[in-house]
This record gives sequence, structure tokens and C-alpha cells, in this order.
Amino acid sequence: MTTTNRIDTLARYHLLGRTGLRVSPLCLGTMTFGTEWGWGSPRETAHRLLARYLEAGGNFIDTADGYTGGTSEQLIGEYFAQHGGRDRAVIATKFTVNTSPGDPNAGGNGRKNIHRALEGSLRRLKTDYVDLYWLHAWDGITPVEEVMHTLTGLVREGKVRYIGLSDVPAWYYARAQTLAERDGLERVAALQLEYSLVERNIEREHIPAALALGSAVTPWSPLASGLLSGKYTRDGAQVKGEGRVSLIPSLGNPGFDKLLTERNWTIVDTLREVATELDRSPAQVALAWVTRRPGVASTIIGATRMEQLEANLHALDVRITEAQTQRLDAVSRPDRVHPYIFFEDAFFTEGMFTGGTKVRAEPEWFRSSAR
Ligand SMILES: NC(=O)c1ccc[n+]([C@@H]2O[C@H](COP(=O)([O-])OP(=O)(O)OC[C@H]3O[C@@H](n4cnc5c(N)ncnc54)[C@H](OP(=O)(O)O)[C@@H]3O)[C@@H](O)[C@H]2O)c1
Repeated sequence: MTTTNRIDTLARYHLLGRTGLRVSPLCLGTMTFGTEWGWGSPRETAHRLLARYLEAGGNFIDTADGYTGGTSEQLIGEYFAQHGGRDRAVIATKFTVNTSPGDPNAGGNGRKNIHRALEGSLRRLKTDYVDLYWLHAWDGITPVEEVMHTLTGLVREGKVRYIGLSDVPAWYYARAQTLAERDGLERVAALQLEYSLVERNIEREHIPAALALGSAVTPWSPLASGLLSGKYTRDGAQVKGEGRVSLIPSLGNPGFDKLLTERNWTIVDTLREVATELDRSPAQVALAWVTRRPGVASTIIGATRMEQLEANLHALDVRITEAQTQRLDAVSRPDRVHPYIFFEDAFFTEGMFTGGTKVRAEPEWFRSSAR
């Protein structure tokens, strides 16, 4: 491997929570590997993106059994089979999504599905172990004890190195980690959750929980599917611009309903202003903002074209000033809701609770939360 095309900031590895695993601060998301969903990259482009990411010094790749019907995993497996280097990579994949309509045990987080899903992922990835195995989303059904015992068994068998939870309630994560600590089970290394300038709700519960209980946070959709690249404009109720976001109205996915709101367009306007001041792109500024938030170890980026990836990989050296950070924080501040207002507002924290005295040591998340 040559070192000339390396990006130093990408090759400055972070620990994944309270583990010994080193990961790049930007993880390559591969939900867009494959064209099955109408917005991804074909095989050759996907392989070129992966090659460039690895060449630049990245080592952390995120996929899932459900992405593009298994094509994403297949493309990653093919790449490493052809080019080698699998052991240098930290490959993360996920289970939960049902892949066989009509079969209730071919999805969710029960033991039967976890074993079935892992065997399929290993086959498609052409590997005999997964570095980080994610529960993709809470299924609302399976007892947390069953999930944690099953995942611990897979680590002991050597099929999985570390485990993580994606898209779960904070109470569920806290219970899983507490059970792990009490019963000697595998600890939760990381949480994967949506986090960006337009989606900051995890600051209330998940980030404080992750900091308190020792897991890394790995944000997904840090550009809000591309909205924060600044390439879209409003045209009445329509969105103009080329890319995934303009397809959203036709996708019928309720997860996207919250994206094209007046509030989010205002955030984009402020982001554009700050990007112009810094002479960087809005995407780079939006990524730089997420990567520096408390608890964030590695941010999962997405790109469908080489120029997007190249620009995004250089986001880590963007320096947003304190005043610009405050403007971004203020415009994107989450709604003030009960009971968090009691923990966020100086009226309570410095007035009612401490009798006007200064708190000696605030936890890190609290200091930099959007007060
Ligand atoms: N755990 C979960 O539930 C979950 C959910 C979603 C995603 N994820 C993970 O997170 C990864 C990233 O998610 P995401 O793709 O939604 O991330 P994102 O960063 O919010 O959006 C990436 C998309 O934005 C556009 N884009 C990226 N860089 C750009 C640039 N510099 N200029 C202009 N447009 C740019 C591209 O789409 P266009 O070319 O179409 O515009 C790209 O595919 C996924 O691959 C997956 O691994 C996890």
C-alpha cells in the first residue's frame, strides 16, 4: 500500500468504547452498495469507493444483512476475496431485518434468527468472523437476556469479536449493559443511532447513557441522507436537486417524513452560511460538527460517487470556530421537553439544585449539550 494517498486524520484511530478495538473516525457506510433500492452504486463504483477508503487509511466498514437484499455484503466479500486485506479491516454487519416474508423467525432478535442471519452474513462476506455484530433495531419482543446470552455465545465461539446495539431505546441499552456487567456477559461496545444537525434527539438519553456505561456512539446518516450537503433547494412543497432526498416523497418510508421540514431548511441555511465563511462545503462542515460531539467515536458516512467520498474523507480537518459552533448548535437545538428541561436549563441546575454554587465537575456530555 502506498502512503501518498493516505489522509492522516482518517488514520488516527479511536477506541471503540471501552474495548481494545481501534477504528477510524469515519466508518464507510455501505447501505448504498448495490442499485436494488434505486439510489445506490453499481458494483464497480462500490469497489472503487471501498478501495479509496482503505487506501486513505480507513479500516471500519458498516453493512447489514438487509442492505440491498444482501448485495452490500456480497460486494464487500467479493472485494476482499479479490484484493486481500480482510484481516486489516473491521467489518461490522447487522441482524434483525426479516428476509423471508411469512416466516416470523427469519427476522427480529430471537436466538433462532440471530444464528440464521449470522450464517448468511458470513457466507456473503466470505469470512469466518464478523468484527462487530450489531442488533439492527429493537424488535419490541425478544427479552434482552436472550439477546445478550446469544451474542455472548457467538463471541465465545469466535464468530464475532464485539457486539453493538443500533436503534434501541436508551433504557434497553442500559439494561443490556447492566446485565452484561452483572452476569459476566459480553459488554455492548457501541451504539449506532441517527445523529446529525437535523436529528439530535439522542443527546437527551443515549449519549449520556453511552458515556456513563462505556460504549462508543457511531452516528448514522450524518448528512441526513444528503440534505446537509446543501445541494437541495425548496420549490414550494417540492424538493429540487439530484440525489436520494428528491426520491423520498415517492419512497413511502415513514422514517423520512421528518426530513423536509421548515426547521430543517433553516438549519441548512445556517450551515451554508458557516460553510461559506470557512470556504468548505456544507457536507464537510456538517460532518465535522458530528465527529466532534461528545461520545462520538466513529461517524458512518455514505457516498455514491468518488468525489463525494473524497470530500467527506477530508472533513476531519475542518475547524469550526467556537462562535460558528454556537450558531449551529442554536439553530439545531432539540425541542425543550419534559423532563430534560430540568437537566439542561441553568435556572434549575445552577439555581434550584445547587443553590447558586458552581458545580465542580459536570459530566462531559452535559457541559457541551445545547444549553
Ligand atoms: N442503523 C441504521 O438503522 C442505519 C440507518 C441508515 C444508515 N445506516 C448506516 O449509515 C450509513 C450512512 O447513511 P447515509 O447514507 O444515510 O448517510 P448520509 O451521510 O446522511 O447520506 C449519504 C448520502 O448523501 C449524499 N452525499 C454524501 N456526500 C455528499 C457530498 N459530499 N455532496 C453531495 N452529496 C453527498 C449521497 O447520496 P446521493 O448521491 O443520492 O445524493 C450519499 O449516499 C449507511 O451506509 C449505513 O451503513 C444505518
